[in-house]
Amino acid sequence: MAIPDSFIEEVVSRNELEPLVSTYVRLKTRGRTRVGLCPFHGEKTPSFTVYTENNSFYCFGCGAGGDVITFVRRMENLDYVDAVKFLADRAGLRMPEQGVNDAVSKLRVRVLEANREAARFYHAMLTDPKGTVGLQYYRGRGYTDSTIRHFGLGYAPDSGWALRDALRAKGFTDEELIAAWLCKRSERGHLYDVFRGRIMVPIIDIRGNVIAFGGRVLDDSKPKYINTSDTLAYKKSDNLFALNFAKSSLGKMPDGGTQLILCEGYMDVIALHQAGFTNAVAALGTSFTAEHARLIARYAAEVVLTFDADAAGQKGTGRAIDLLRETGVRIKVVRVPDGKDPDEFIKNNGAERFRMLMENSANDVEYRLLELGRQFDLATADGQARYLKGAAELLAGLSSPIERDVYAGKIAAEVGVTKSALLDQIRQVGRRRARKQEGQQLSQAVRQSAAAVKKVNPEAETHWRAARAEEALIGLLIRNPDYIGRVADALPPDGMVTAFNRTLYGLLVTRHQNGLLVEPSLLSAELEVDGMAYLARMVQEAGERANTPEEALRCAAVITEEKRRLAVQESTTSDEDIEAYLAKLRQEKK
Ligand code: CTP
Ligand code: MN
Repeated sequence: MAIPDSFIEEVVSRNELEPLVSTYVRLKTRGRTRVGLCPFHGEKTPSFTVYTENNSFYCFGCGAGGDVITFVRRMENLDYVDAVKFLADRAGLRMPEQGVNDAVSKLRVRVLEANREAARFYHAMLTDPKGTVGLQYYRGRGYTDSTIRHFGLGYAPDSGWALRDALRAKGFTDEELIAAWLCKRSERGHLYDVFRGRIMVPIIDIRGNVIAFGGRVLDDSKPKYINTSDTLAYKKSDNLFALNFAKSSLGKMPDGGTQLILCEGYMDVIALHQAGFTNAVAALGTSFTAEHARLIARYAAEVVLTFDADAAGQKGTGRAIDLLRETGVRIKVVRVPDGKDPDEFIKNNGAERFRMLMENSANDVEYRLLELGRQFDLATADGQARYLKGAAELLAGLSSPIERDVYAGKIAAEVGVTKSALLDQIRQVGRRRARKQEGQQLSQAVRQSAAAVKKVNPEAETHWRAARAEEALIGLLIRNPDYIGRVADALPPDGMVTAFNRTLYGLLVTRHQNGLLVEPSLLSAELEVDGMAYLARMVQEAGERANTPEEALRCAAVITEEKRRLAVQESTTSDEDIEAYLAKLRQEKK
């Protein structure tokens, strides 16, 4: 990966760690540091420490640590490049164009061009005799001509090569058609169309690019849908169908707020838009992901879920609620009656009735309580007890005490118990959960951190003394880069005992010799998250020792001594030596 150092420096200098961490963790000043509850493991007393002077963090509880890039990687679950991108965006910087990936980005552009031509082709088929069945299908579902045009809907003829031939004639290569997932190669080497005899829905991103397609059969045969797989131009979990249209109708809600309607299928979205609900979107093909949730929260303050009324739809709703809750967006749930999906409901009852459903929709807590209530017979004492237990579990998960109080009141009245009894029960569940979670997360985090060091530097265990000295020395040098020259004279880059530290030290020495900085952030690309945690510990612990050149040279001397000792050990462990050694031991025992 080749993001230039100068850009990383710029990104890091424009993203101070402390204010960034503060958006996730409440920090308090302690001496020259800021501390808070670690976001990477559960704890009640703060051991997560931010060192403002060198823009790094370290958790004494679980061993997580690193620079601002590492923090973002762990917090947002991103890879290195995406973390840099995240921070660049935050600082209003543009990522430098990556010359190295020229061929890939050219192919990506061709994929988009092929998709656009394919969309034109499929759409044109509706006015071709070969596509009459497609047009009839849309008409049968009540789609108007203007809806068909608006969404660029089309039809893929039932031939193995209609699209292939059309796009080849326009100059697209086989490689490009395969990369776009429009064609595949058969075992015998022939190129054929992926979508055949299906109505075609183009997926358009917010920039107006056609990035993928969904194709539905005309009858009940299987598979019902074929969707474009991930390609250079398309990642399923990053896109929502119709967000390009919904985006521009945001803020036009009656109360002036921003709202999106989230459905399960494309067909629901199209039907909703035609009925005037132009803020409807859907996840594509697979299930709803955390990325989808974040995308929604970026555009809207409120999301209305209208999944299908079947069991799968209700399960999907529960999952979407969990993911959406994390983002802080306001959630409402419409339950479409009679096992229908929104498309069918509107067809049977009209847009006005759907608007009423939306207006009377429950929020996510009400929805879950209703779902819970359905599972028990509330006319029996046993059913009531189980319901209360479930409700206490549910309400204990709410972070707002006001919310907890309001619902506890409602439920208590409904079932006929006192509110204080229910609140007691909720508090008990909360305490039990906190204890359990804290224990679990801490032991898991500590195990992870020990495992991380073991993974990045397995030799640290067997060469304990050398590794300690190496860690101390590297930490010291990062804090005091001006010592590097002198130390390198005493200890050459390959003088370290353990392989990981040898590479790291080599990196420091080379960078220093070339006049480059040795900031942890600039090593971030090379070290991965585990390596960064290990490095952060070295830098952190070095702060507790003397930061003098003498101390550095002392460490270097220990390392040299260990290296020599190990070399001797390796070359002289012959039978004779062992004999002599055992004899000496016997002698000493006497
Ligand atoms: N889906 C899929 N593959 C399938 C079935 C469903 O990818 N075999 C996805 C599609 O994105 C589809 C969504 O799940 O849009 C919802 O599926 P479903 O409810 O079955 O389709 P509807 O949109 O209701 O389609 P229709 O009304 O035409 O039956
Ligand atoms: Mn449907």
